[in-house]
Amino acid sequence: MAEQLTPETPEESEEQPIKQRKNGLYPGVSDELAENMKSGWADTELHGLEPIAQAAHTADRRTALSARFPGERLVIPAGNLKTRSNDTEYSFRASTEYAYLTGDQTQDGVLVLEPRGDGHEATVYLLPRSDRENGEFWLDGQGELWVGRRHSLSEAEQLLGIPAKDVRELAAALKEATGPVRAVRGHDAGIEAALADKVTAERDEELRVYLSEARLVKDAFEVAELRKACEATARGFEDVVKVLDKAEATSERYIEGTFFLRARVEGNDIGYGSICAAGPHATTLHWVRNDGAVRAGELLLLDAGVETNELYTADVTRTLPINGTFSPLQRKIYDAVYEAQEAGIAAVRPGAPYRAFHDAAQRVLAEKLVEWGLCGDLDVEKVLELGLQRRWTLHGTGHMLGMDVHDCAAARTETYVAGDLEPGMCLTVEPGLYFQADDLTVPEEYRGIGVRIEDDILVTEDGNENLSASLPRRSDEVEAWMARVKQG
Ligand code: GLY
Ligand code: MN
Ligand code: MN
Repeated sequence: MAEQLTPETPEESEEQPIKQRKNGLYPGVSDELAENMKSGWADTELHGLEPIAQAAHTADRRTALSARFPGERLVIPAGNLKTRSNDTEYSFRASTEYAYLTGDQTQDGVLVLEPRGDGHEATVYLLPRSDRENGEFWLDGQGELWVGRRHSLSEAEQLLGIPAKDVRELAAALKEATGPVRAVRGHDAGIEAALADKVTAERDEELRVYLSEARLVKDAFEVAELRKACEATARGFEDVVKVLDKAEATSERYIEGTFFLRARVEGNDIGYGSICAAGPHATTLHWVRNDGAVRAGELLLLDAGVETNELYTADVTRTLPINGTFSPLQRKIYDAVYEAQEAGIAAVRPGAPYRAFHDAAQRVLAEKLVEWGLCGDLDVEKVLELGLQRRWTLHGTGHMLGMDVHDCAAARTETYVAGDLEPGMCLTVEPGLYFQADDLTVPEEYRGIGVRIEDDILVTEDGNENLSASLPRRSDEVEAWMARVKQG
């Protein structure tokens, strides 16, 4: 990558706004060049833009938020770039709260809901187009010449359906403003500093909790996005099956890279670090190092999800026999997990307690473990009472899914894990069995086998829909699918 023109001393860059810098501070920039760069550029302002597809939905979400916090100023930042090293940054991902309420994903953006009458007036604060007069567009590392054209404030207004203002004026305005205010924390240190003496952790937490709970039930736009995420993810899994021989010749990284290609071509990114766990790595729940060998005869546990361009992610796991056929023991363990998942999915319906699918799946797994003689002489009820099955089932059976892979994480216990399911909720059902390579309490042949099957289940009016059903799950169907895909 090219290096930016930098001032002679870093201090000068931090302390002086660009418009006050002298051209002489930039090595190699003559007064003539600086003057020359100011003009000769076409007016590219766009007019008559259509609103983004979810504009009506984001307006509804803001209306609901407004009703929950009458008379209070609400500040929801998108977040800033984070340094990866020196002058390179991590790719930017807008905060879930900001994207949910605006449909926008611009770095440094801030949504402010200002109390007005019975409700609120929303304004989105954004960086405007780069100034050509002061050289910002080509001399600043975040100028449009370096990072690409931004929308003008007027274009952003048309697209988002929200009045837009210059974000560079926001911190000072927030400092001056009076009246109750709440902010979403953790994304924008500058905004937080401006509000430091006006907010309390407790009141900000109530805003965070509200925004988590508001996302428990998905609207039609969100359901369509989750569907899209699952479809792209299914294609990513198929991509992986096609190249298993190349992964065998290299490593789990080949699988990670293959899935990532699909995520970047069809979506924004992967929704979380892909778990590409071959052989005994499958027993490590969040194996994301992905640097191990891929061997015929072993299983591949692939847990991966495409995040759509609007930031909704799938979260799907398939455990695949690398050579295309389960061994008898692999199949026995796989089929047990499949049976548990079937029981879990069957428990997903409106009105059911959220915990029911977990209990149903755990019961099946406990029954299998007892049947296989792994729980001594304890019966299933005793095993469940003591939770002993958890040595091998390890984790909860699922979670809400949406813009965050573990969505709605700040929701209160009574509305989430101790609540009831409602149409429009979307959750994963993902039981697993994991026999660690060093677990001396199981027969040797079990050791190093890990199986998880994970699907994304939408609660419907009369039951559920498996959004990731296009990927086979039953062991014989997995084998037939792999054979078909490998043949092309
Ligand atoms: N991929 C993380 C999870 O399944 O929860
Ligand atoms: Mn999951
Ligand atoms: Mn997962």
